Amino acid sequence: MSERILIVGSGAREHAIAAAFARSPQKPALLCFSTSMNPGIDALCTHYGLGSITDPPTVTDFAITHDVTLAMIGPEAPLAAGIADALWHAGIPTVGPTQTLARIESSKSYTRDLLDRSGIPGNPFFRRFPSLEGVAETVAQWPGRHVIKDDGLAGGKGVKVCGDHLLTPADSLAFCRELAAAGHAFVIEEKLEGEEFSLLSFSDGRTLRHMPAVQDHKRVYDGDRGPNTGGMGSYTAPDGGLPFLTAADVAAARTINEQVAAALSSDCGAPYRGILYGGFMATASGVKLIEYNARFGDPEALNLLTLLETDLVAICRGMVDGTLHTVDVRFAPQASVCKYVVPEGYPNAPRCGERVALPARLPPEVSLYLSAVDQREGLLIATGSRTLAAVATGATLADAEQRCEQVVAEWSGHWFHRGDIGTAAAIARKVEHMRQLRGEARP
Ligand code: AMP
Ligand code: GLY
Repeated sequence: MSERILIVGSGAREHAIAAAFARSPQKPALLCFSTSMNPGIDALCTHYGLGSITDPPTVTDFAITHDVTLAMIGPEAPLAAGIADALWHAGIPTVGPTQTLARIESSKSYTRDLLDRSGIPGNPFFRRFPSLEGVAETVAQWPGRHVIKDDGLAGGKGVKVCGDHLLTPADSLAFCRELAAAGHAFVIEEKLEGEEFSLLSFSDGRTLRHMPAVQDHKRVYDGDRGPNTGGMGSYTAPDGGLPFLTAADVAAARTINEQVAAALSSDCGAPYRGILYGGFMATASGVKLIEYNARFGDPEALNLLTLLETDLVAICRGMVDGTLHTVDVRFAPQASVCKYVVPEGYPNAPRCGERVALPARLPPEVSLYLSAVDQREGLLIATGSRTLAAVATGATLADAEQRCEQVVAEWSGHWFHRGDIGTAAAIARKVEHMRQLRGEARP
């Protein structure tokens, strides 16, 4: 009997997940359940349900009614809400951790404590504050060199960094007061200097299969300027590393993921079945952990799933059945560049309702994934957030970047994208930044 696979969520990440499932030789039936309709996902699905993705009975009712045999959860909110628990309880194997295991993302202090308790390297200095007691001393101890984080999920809005958002100790104290007044615990940690990268692994709780390292670009404008966004684009290199990382950096990040999956599974008394996403900083003193996510990254998933050569259904079965050691996971040994096209005014005041015209033809090396796009009277309409992403592959980063740029440049006028992602100049700056931090001589 062929699989009936439910995808929960409806952004470009879930579109890339659906497209990867749709390539499977097992020809699964695909279903989606989400809060909004993504026409790109809808075109690949037999059923599309609309409703709350954080309400366990709503999601399980849909899955049971449609005889789902396997589920995959895209975003973090349903994981934190226990949707995986409810689906497993209903007899539906699910890719994505249960609520307890998802604390690796939903609680910053749980994760830092787990690393410390388990002797896993990678933590900077950190301290959790349930109240304002001791805050002024800690801020004074790390002048201009700290980061303040809401301890819980805050949709990317709960982090403020010295030099970016916090310019004086008074700014830091004000943000802590704001968090405390809202009844939120928070963490103050050392600000790490270096280059960020993401290392994602498929996990069945015992075996991990690592994906190529990816670099996301969170800032809205070229040169990493402007406010933070969900991510404007990302790239990978043909060898699975990144130009500014050493082989030892990649190996260290993989080892940390392996140790964390083991520690987490043992701490929770249950295997971590899903994607483990380590957000790391390469620094002068090695690889440090910024945060963990319990799911695919967006945009990272777009690069990774475009390059994935192994049948995603087989990998998911390996994760839920605990047989990932029998699955040989392969990615095309190519570079990839992903760029999001976003509406004018994004992220603070995005223009809505603009018609989205898709190119009549695309080069075979380019995939398009839709995000905040609705279909009204047969037309695609932008709904305000990141609109769509193009992922191009190539033998080199330069090939992939040029191909991607050619496609996204089609959206001019009321749209924009980052022109610098994956360019030789931007990458050279990152390599030079790491060379300086490591105190290495210029080649
Ligand atoms: P997060 O929500 O934890 O991903 O944090 C958002 C962003 O804040 C990260 O992508 C980093 O750019 C930055 N950040 C978080 N923690 C640190 C840290 N300890 N040092 C430097 N930057 C950080
Ligand atoms: N790429 C950042 C995230 O998915 O959280």
